Amino acid sequence: MSEDIITVAMPKGRIFEEAVELLKKANYPIPPEFEESRKLILEVPEAGMRFILAKPTDVPTYVEHGVADVGVAGKDVMIEEKRDIYEVLDLKISACYMAVAALPSYNPKSEVAPKIASKYPNLTSEYFREQGEQVEIIKLNGSIELAPIIGLADRIVDIVSTGQTLKENGLVEIETMMPITSRFIVNPVSYRTKSARIDDMVDRLAEVVAKGEVYE
Ligand code: PRP
Repeated sequence: MSEDIITVAMPKGRIFEEAVELLKKANYPIPPEFEESRKLILEVPEAGMRFILAKPTDVPTYVEHGVADVGVAGKDVMIEEKRDIYEVLDLKISACYMAVAALPSYNPKSEVAPKIASKYPNLTSEYFREQGEQVEIIKLNGSIELAPIIGLADRIVDIVSTGQTLKENGLVEIETMMPITSRFIVNPVSYRTKSARIDDMVDRLAEVVAKGEVYE
């Protein structure tokens, strides 16, 4: 990794647009093809930057291994994976929350060994351990709302954003667990070796966040 290039790991998907908007507002030159092409690496030599586009859950992995100096990652992924990275700024974008949901007919008293489906097995297990409830966790990779409907699980732990997915699938929220937003994360070695550039990036992003005018 060259010292004068900053590699930024960006999450593809629903966080992407808001993260790009934030960078643009902080006066980072985002090439137009970034939002249109399917390229996974984009070099911006005039700004001494390189952007890589990763799956949101993989962003902390790239940053932990130092192939990206910095990145944008959801707090959900950070809690689930507990990587060796610095979380330096709450970008306050992609705000949503983690919740427990079930079918309206859900009755905790009738559950013998409750099954909880989630994309977040570690976070889920920690949450129920703290609640003193013994549960069986079923790890899924998506479409979590399907699990109670089809009889795979009694409850789910998942992200709620607009609440539309729960509603359209006839599920109800039982408990709100924690608020989630995207964070600016930094590789600990990069933070030492490229401190001036990374500090400048944090300052510029923090200024935009403080103005509270990021695209929703
Ligand atoms: C996420 C999450 C919920 C949905 C919540 O899924 O897992 O299913 O979004 O959003 P809403 O409250 O606005 O409806 P995602 O779209 O990332 O797809 P997935 O089911 O493949 O995880």
